Amino acid sequence: MKNPIEGRTILLGVTGSIAIYKAADLASKLTQAGAKVDVILTEKALHFMNPLTFQSVTGRKAYTEDDLWGGEGHVVHIELGRAAELVLIAPISANTMASLAHGIADNLLTVATLASHCPLMIAPAMDGGMFANPATQANLHILKERGAIVVGPAEGHLASGLTGPGRMVEPAEIFDNVRFLFSRGGPLQGKKFVITAGGTREPIDPVRFITNRSSGKQGYAVAQAALNAGADVTLITTNSELTPPVGAVIKSVETAAEMQKAVEEESKDAYALIMAAAVADFTPIQEQTQKIKKETGIPVLELRSTPDILKLIGEKKSITGFPKKLIGFAAESQDLIANAQRKLETKNLDLIVANNILAKDAGFEVDNNRVVLIPKKGESISLPLLSKQEVAEKIIEVILGWE
Ligand code: C5P
Repeated sequence: MKNPIEGRTILLGVTGSIAIYKAADLASKLTQAGAKVDVILTEKALHFMNPLTFQSVTGRKAYTEDDLWGGEGHVVHIELGRAAELVLIAPISANTMASLAHGIADNLLTVATLASHCPLMIAPAMDGGMFANPATQANLHILKERGAIVVGPAEGHLASGLTGPGRMVEPAEIFDNVRFLFSRGGPLQGKKFVITAGGTREPIDPVRFITNRSSGKQGYAVAQAALNAGADVTLITTNSELTPPVGAVIKSVETAAEMQKAVEEESKDAYALIMAAAVADFTPIQEQTQKIKKETGIPVLELRSTPDILKLIGEKKSITGFPKKLIGFAAESQDLIANAQRKLETKNLDLIVANNILAKDAGFEVDNNRVVLIPKKGESISLPLLSKQEVAEKIIEVILGWE
């Protein structure tokens, strides 16, 4: 599957902020993802960094003020602005934000931005006082109103010694925002995907719960792959430690009952439901409201079955037609294919992803997975050991094949 950034032309503007040291990493990440990255350094940016640093990571010329006034000066700013599919300014200083808000075009970066016809994304970086200043806030407001995508700033330690909002967000987060932007209009455009991730927690008392080894990584990877293909994604998750994919609507749940409610609600108008979560099959009959004390002896934990969410949705699907596509996972320790095949049929699925949970190098908690994709119609696909992201892409590819 093509990554949304591949082949895109990005004009990366860097301004005179200490956060510029992170911009080289950003330029490198975008280049590695296949983007053509043209960098413009403002005059003040040159005090912090050398164009050669950017040229070395992008493999393309990095432009400075001299290029505006050089031999080809009459066209370079127009060409850079016109060629860009995204103008990304990271870090953007309070000064450059003010220029852009008021149409002041007094250097190569602001001239090229003014000449561009593409989205503008900015990642502010400045001292907390400068960021909070009403002038900066007003400029930010103007840019937002005009459609600029503002990423950050984050809160934290600032070079001035202060702590507060003003830090440029990390390159990985800016990269994710760029990928999300370019993913829109992809082949799954307008299709709602509901994806579940993680293991549920079934409370015993206020401090204890029953859970399982699911990390949520496979579900998050599926959410990312669906986003990359242009889908509108709602991620229903029990995991609060993994970074939520940029662009996904996040619904946090804890128990199987909460997951059932969220899945039922979200699936009503969904194109696809992909249940990657490891939902508890049993839950304590009653949650104790007080902590069970060891002095009262060893407790007997009485359990009851939880509803099989996927099966219930499979039954609804045959009546309402929604979700249009239903995908489940089968974690098995024996008779993998036969068991998965049976679940595919009894739960009314379009596809089941079968994995052997006894494999040491794949499955729960780790970053890799070895799975067999078994569709309702057509041949099964037995995949080799792959990263969870690659497995996710294969699942989305199968779904794309149904279109
Ligand atoms: O039958 P089994 O639990 O092995 O099926 C696994 C699939 O069913 C997974 O996709 C899982 O998310 C889903 N499931 C569910 N509700 C349960 C248990 C599992 O939706 N109570």
